[in-house]
Amino acid sequence: MYVFFSNPTYHHPDCSSREITMASIVSHLTSSFLSTPGFCRPSQSLHQSQKQMRCTRKSVPRTISASIDLKPTPYALDALEPHMSKETLEYHWGKHQRGYVDNLNKQIEGTEFDGKSLGEIIIASYNNGDVLPAFNNAAQVWNHEFFWESMKPGGGGTPSGELLELINRDFGSFESLVSEFTLAATTQFGSGWAWLVYKEDEKLAVVNSSNAINPLVLNYDPLLTIDVWEHAYYLDFKNLRADYISTFLDKLVSWTAVSIRLLEVQAVVALRKKADENIAELDAIIATRDNDTTEPEDPDEY
Ligand SMILES: [Fe+2]
Repeated sequence: MYVFFSNPTYHHPDCSSREITMASIVSHLTSSFLSTPGFCRPSQSLHQSQKQMRCTRKSVPRTISASIDLKPTPYALDALEPHMSKETLEYHWGKHQRGYVDNLNKQIEGTEFDGKSLGEIIIASYNNGDVLPAFNNAAQVWNHEFFWESMKPGGGGTPSGELLELINRDFGSFESLVSEFTLAATTQFGSGWAWLVYKEDEKLAVVNSSNAINPLVLNYDPLLTIDVWEHAYYLDFKNLRADYISTFLDKLVSWTAVSIRLLEVQAVVALRKKADENIAELDAIIATRDNDTTEPEDPDEY
């Protein structure tokens, strides 16, 4: 299944029923992915935590700044050569991503977002499609961290295990997934991203998004992404986006990271289902109690 979305006002039809779900996703993505090669760590800095502790001890009014860090890439900047050059990473990570981080920290300083996690800022600043100024920088920081961890030196090849089974089930074959992903990345007009996602119906799908929009605000669980902003490939491939995409899939993509992300997302979905079942059970108990019109027994009659 290939879904195209570029409209930032898009809302998932079940969005309202998934508010708790998105909170759990954000929490999940900012915690459990931390131990995997499959995720970005939009963490608060240790420096900030220490500052907060000092403020608490001295009862100094709380002032937090520069709360989002530039996370290092998960490998050396030259580790993806010859398929992605050190120069590209120096610019892409060292200048573009750094710019998003710096701009975001300036934007959120002293605002309601100061001290929040990156995931929290993304969801809140998306503001149900009426985006606030911090959204683009926050989402771009998150997207790039996710992108770097979607690749590895010596990547490419084919997935295996349950991931491959689901790919075969939902796309027909791995080759079909590659075709759909390539089409989504190639046809994304202008700057944006292509994603492999896990949907609420527990099926895989390929989507693309414009500018900084990502699946977090569209109620999909992201498993893989490729950056198709021109700055991602121009130094190595000039205007040949198609060559960049095929190199990403053939030589760089980390199916290991995607498999780990799938397992974690499935675990979250299972917890989500269990929570829903418990809530339904509780509702049923309450409804039964409220509908029970039986008069209580009078102990004085005996
Ligand atoms: Fe980028």
